[in-house]
Amino acid sequence: TRRTLLAGMLLSVVAVAGCGKKAEEPAASAASDAAPAVTQGTEYVVGTDASYAPFEFQNDQSQIVGFDIEVLSAVADKGGFKVKFVNTPWEGMFATLAQGDRDILSSAITITDERKQSMDFSEPYFEARQLIAVGKGVTGVKTFQDLKSKKVAVQTGTTGDEVVQKLLGKTSSNIKRFESMPLALKELEGGGVDAAVGDNGVVINYVKNNPQHGMTTVEDLQSFAPEYYGFAVKKGNKELLDKVNAGIKAIKADGTYDQIFNKYFGTK
Ligand code: ARG
Repeated sequence: TRRTLLAGMLLSVVAVAGCGKKAEEPAASAASDAAPAVTQGTEYVVGTDASYAPFEFQNDQSQIVGFDIEVLSAVADKGGFKVKFVNTPWEGMFATLAQGDRDILSSAITITDERKQSMDFSEPYFEARQLIAVGKGVTGVKTFQDLKSKKVAVQTGTTGDEVVQKLLGKTSSNIKRFESMPLALKELEGGGVDAAVGDNGVVINYVKNNPQHGMTTVEDLQSFAPEYYGFAVKKGNKELLDKVNAGIKAIKADGTYDQIFNKYFGTK
């Protein structure tokens, strides 16, 4: 019918507008006669895997909140731009930058040489390290080496996945990979694996908030190197990267960064 045809056309117009529109373009709706534009300046779309408390997660009202969210929001304030956070699965997240679906990634992303080849990173804004979570009743795990003959859960494609691959071998059937860190830790709770390896902040937070499962944590400063989180932008997007870096510099200088840090992690 005419109606469905029209609806179909409308849908495709919306779809085309949705894909093609670059966040940095001023809203084409400026001509709308109603209220004056609410968003002043550029609004960038930020991808984040909001299953990573305390860095990015959804609160009881399903709002995306967390340390990374507050840091990048403050960075945007100082850098003179706007951000809109969009929940984005970790797997495939990097591709959204290249495709132009996201302008910035804010997702506790460790800056690595390999990743630097396909995206650009801001100055580091947080230091992290891998940490081992050990299941209830599992004995003999004092160091990372002790996981050699154990079943280990990780989040797919993370730096945790990488270190465990190095120890157990890339194709080891003792590595169980999950699309999110909470799923990996749930597997540990259920006894499907002996341990999980992931970013310390997230592992500590989870173990602390789920005491009924009797998990413990094991630190291994010899085996795990410090990692640094950065915000990522599309390779070559120097204009945006400069704004982000200027914002980071500003919030470190004026105490805003420390304030947010202390709110989440206590004093340094
Ligand atoms: N820092 C680790 C990495 O870059 C894990 C990050 C996972 N982040 C997330 N929001 N799921 O590989």
